[in-house]
Amino acid sequence: MATLLYSATMSLDGFIAGPGGDMSWLSEYVGEPNEAADRLLSRIGAILCGAVTFFGDDPNRGTDAEGAFGGQYDGPTVLLTHRPPVNPIPGVSVATDLHAAVECAAAAAGEQYVNVLGADVARQCIDEGLLDEILVFTAPVLLGDGVRLFDRPGGERVTLERIPGEVENWYRVLR
Ligand SMILES: NC(=O)c1ccc[n+]([C@@H]2O[C@H](COP(=O)([O-])OP(=O)(O)OC[C@H]3O[C@@H](n4cnc5c(N)ncnc54)[C@H](OP(=O)(O)O)[C@@H]3O)[C@@H](O)[C@H]2O)c1
Repeated sequence: MATLLYSATMSLDGFIAGPGGDMSWLSEYVGEPNEAADRLLSRIGAILCGAVTFFGDDPNRGTDAEGAFGGQYDGPTVLLTHRPPVNPIPGVSVATDLHAAVECAAAAAGEQYVNVLGADVARQCIDEGLLDEILVFTAPVLLGDGVRLFDRPGGERVTLERIPGEVENWYRVLR
């Protein structure tokens, strides 16, 4: 059974994108050695990606580093959107419903990770009790504003536990 994990690089003040979806700040940190990211990457069987992330800012667009994990991920992707693209995108399945998207990504991932990309999708996964793990990398920058790692006004408390032997910000979601 696949494990559903939300990963992101977050500014120290809690944002994964700057105002207007700006991701230019991230390019400074992409390419830095990161053993936990490498470990995760080797275990990702599918990506579940929100449409804002999928079609959004990529500071590496047009280079070899374009795409998820600085261009190093080349497996299946499930795009979650209410507005499926008119033309098929190679390697990308489209889902218009959260549960269908998770099922599709989990089937593609097998026993590996489904990596969720996008705070909106991750929030829904948490609220639906679907998320198993969270891995957060912290970038030494304060963005001041933008898209929060989790934005759940009025949301219920979710308890996390560190994963033994893993880096500090790799957590299991307790249900
Ligand atoms: N720092 C990092 O490591 C990192 C990683 C990933 C992403 N990012 C950035 O973080 C930002 C994430 O943006 P976000 O959290 O606002 O959006 P998101 O999760 O990437 O995508 C949200 C979009 O997905 C679609 N969607 C969401 N739930 C759906 C559902 N249940 N059914 C059908 N479609 C659904 C909708 O698109 P439609 O309007 O098309 O229906 C919605 O607007 C982006 O700017 C991205 O570039 C940063």
